[in-house]
Amino acid sequence: NVDPYASFRHPRSNKEPIRLGFAQVGSESRWRLTNTKSIKDAARDAGIELTFIDGQQKQENQIAAIRSFIKQKVDIIAFSPIVESGWEEVLQEAKAAGIPVILSDREVDIKDDSLWATFIGSDFLEEGRRAARWLLSYIEHHPTPDGQVNIVELQGTVGSAPAIDRKRGFELTLEPHPEFRIIRSEIANFYFDQGRDVMKKILETEKRRIDVLFAHNDDMALGAIQTLESAGLRPGKDMVIVSVDAVKEAFQAMIAGKLNCTVECTPLLGPQLMKVIQDYFDGKELPTRIITSEEVFPAEVARTVLPKRRY
Ligand code: AHR
Repeated sequence: NVDPYASFRHPRSNKEPIRLGFAQVGSESRWRLTNTKSIKDAARDAGIELTFIDGQQKQENQIAAIRSFIKQKVDIIAFSPIVESGWEEVLQEAKAAGIPVILSDREVDIKDDSLWATFIGSDFLEEGRRAARWLLSYIEHHPTPDGQVNIVELQGTVGSAPAIDRKRGFELTLEPHPEFRIIRSEIANFYFDQGRDVMKKILETEKRRIDVLFAHNDDMALGAIQTLESAGLRPGKDMVIVSVDAVKEAFQAMIAGKLNCTVECTPLLGPQLMKVIQDYFDGKELPTRIITSEEVFPAEVARTVLPKRRY
């Protein structure tokens, strides 16, 4: 029962607020904007002094942010790693400085687990599986003319945990069903505009029938929907569309019949993050992973659920 983080806990005067350094990914999606607001609001509400740096989609910016937090001697660092790999060196530096690190939203792929204290976020692999399970049951009731299901995938940021795991979860679930084939998989980095533009290129070059679009987030799906409509297609009818996040705009698209399903991924991580930070400094043992509980929302429930959505 050796506590690997015991060495991090340095005495703090109760009167001083906890100083948190947070390095965000950027502002690529509606999800991300809500996540940033959630963190800033929750820090303010908890009386935690927050230094927030926007990494603007670049790992080197996030690394520089973490180094500046170390220099400022913050009490604790949290960040949402843009990609999974390449964090050993800077996290070693944080550890050497005695500053604990919390992973928020995205995980890192490193061998030494003592470099981070806990992870708070979603199970992205399960999100991919949920999207595929929903699709299997939808196609069972709405079969394609020849039984073949041609899928186009829009991927999020290359090397990011949500893009890697949603893809994998989706593929693993469809593996026993060879009639479901991903015929194109293109990168659109979680952006609305890139979803729109990449879908345009796909429509121009793809000669095979496209039955399904699986987008790794709602923003890319909403961008693609715009392209499909401009091309005279009926998104949600001529092409089945399933995406991830469950932002309000996805519910509006479902009510309009343009999106068929969204798999929830909550950005409202701020309150949990602040609670974990307070627990940590209260000397409580932290769980290794704190996974948020999430749902699947098919179009049929959109109208009822939308008024209750908080993002
Ligand atoms: O890491 C979470 C993902 O990042 C969300 O699904 C996406 O919208 C965001 O940009």
